[in-house]
Amino acid sequence: MKNIASIYRVEHFNAAHRLHNSQWSNEKNEMVFGKCNNLYYHGHNYELVVKVTGEIDAATGYVMDAKLLSDLIKKYVLEEFDHKNLNKQVSYFQYLNPTAENIARVIYDLLRKEIDSKLEIQIRLYETSKNFVEFPASK
Ligand code: NI
Repeated sequence: MKNIASIYRVEHFNAAHRLHNSQWSNEKNEMVFGKCNNLYYHGHNYELVVKVTGEIDAATGYVMDAKLLSDLIKKYVLEEFDHKNLNKQVSYFQYLNPTAENIARVIYDLLRKEIDSKLEIQIRLYETSKNFVEFPASK
């Protein structure tokens, strides 16, 4: 049996966004996105959970150093996203609707480049305490 474990790191950031599809009428945008279509933006308190799965290293006893994971999330995600207007200030969302799904995908791509490819990662992002997404999807 392989010694596979998952470690999790929880972080928070606050950010503003507006969901809007410029191909659609204002009425359709309002119908589809509701309050998240507000012309003047609005904020969410996002809770981010990063899951890293892999073999427990025989020498360290770690899947991955939790301090290193925390530092990577701070540098590549929190410093870019926290207290920002995602549509206006975060380049990834210039042409991409900043839904929880798309934010989770972007975070995945940012961290995937920084974490050893033999480790699997999954992003869980809570937009509210009742709504959250996972990327990649759980099997
Ligand atoms: Ni919203």
